[in-house]
Amino acid sequence: MLTTDGAEQARLRAPAQALLGPAAVATMRPQIARSVEASIDSVVGNEGPVDKVLADHTAAAALAAVLTTELSAKFLQMVRASRLVLNPLPQPALRLQTVAASTMVDRWTTSHVATLADVSEPQCPAERFATDPRLSSQEKAATMGLCIIGGFSPLTDLVTSGLMLARDPELRSKMLEAPTAFLEELVRWQSPVPFAARQALQDIDLPSGTVRGGQRCLVHLGAANHDPEQFENPSLFDPSREQGRPLGFGHGAHYCMGAALTRIALPTIWTAMLDRWHEFVLEGDSSWTSEPFPRRMRPAALRWAAR
Ligand code: HEM
Repeated sequence: MLTTDGAEQARLRAPAQALLGPAAVATMRPQIARSVEASIDSVVGNEGPVDKVLADHTAAAALAAVLTTELSAKFLQMVRASRLVLNPLPQPALRLQTVAASTMVDRWTTSHVATLADVSEPQCPAERFATDPRLSSQEKAATMGLCIIGGFSPLTDLVTSGLMLARDPELRSKMLEAPTAFLEELVRWQSPVPFAARQALQDIDLPSGTVRGGQRCLVHLGAANHDPEQFENPSLFDPSREQGRPLGFGHGAHYCMGAALTRIALPTIWTAMLDRWHEFVLEGDSSWTSEPFPRRMRPAALRWAAR
């Protein structure tokens, strides 16, 4: 889907709406909330880097709910491994692990699609997707794999950076008041997926020069999200800003398939953690890792106040 265009991309993408489109994900809101709550209950008392001991579990819980599966140790291991596959520039030393991770995702999605498809009356978005006759089983497994690989990493990173920012009392109250606006601003400001790959269909004149038709280019969504003509004082993280057209979820035919899930999952996770704010502390500086992609904050250490 991500690497195709035109009719072929539309053919692959249309059935996926049954799984991740806004209407489909909205029906899963209660399951997402329950799965997230249970995942938090299961990690209370675990201490260490906030991504490993908490954010990964909550992000995996949201994904598990929408895919209609248990948040098992195997599922968690598989979605964690998927992070390696997302990296477009894997270190040579990690190539074998990347291949192994990709195989793990393929095997899991192939088996899960077969299980979901084995129903006479589909009841939930994942079953409706798995029984859709428009795609082959292999295409459905590949689509689900793309959602895991493309979705887990930005979800867990946003859980972490949101909680790190919420250490500031003023930002914490903004998160509590309007978690969706907080998310939209965080996706603009952080741009977790900072660029998209494209091929120019025709010559395009830009202030910085001409992109020739046929040339491949990286469109810098992160730079667009910090365009001062769109956003006043763009470096400022301001969840109450209203102006500008952010591009953090991309644009057009390839607009993020997981945006609706992200818009339900993140506010659910953050709100659940704000309810427990007095029960834990996050220790460590807020700083960004040096990797260009995915853009993420170094995780603070999570310590539970009372056990
Ligand atoms: C958490 C924040 C997320 C951000 C910032 C984000 C960002 C993006 C961006 C910028 C694109 C466009 C890529 C392009 O144009 O080449 C994209 C596409 C995509 N995203 Fe996300 N994403 C997020 C979460 C998710 C989640 C949770 C899922 C699935 C569960 C997901 C699944 C996808 C898929 C399948 C595509 C490809 C769509 C297509 O090619 O038609 N994303 N995402």
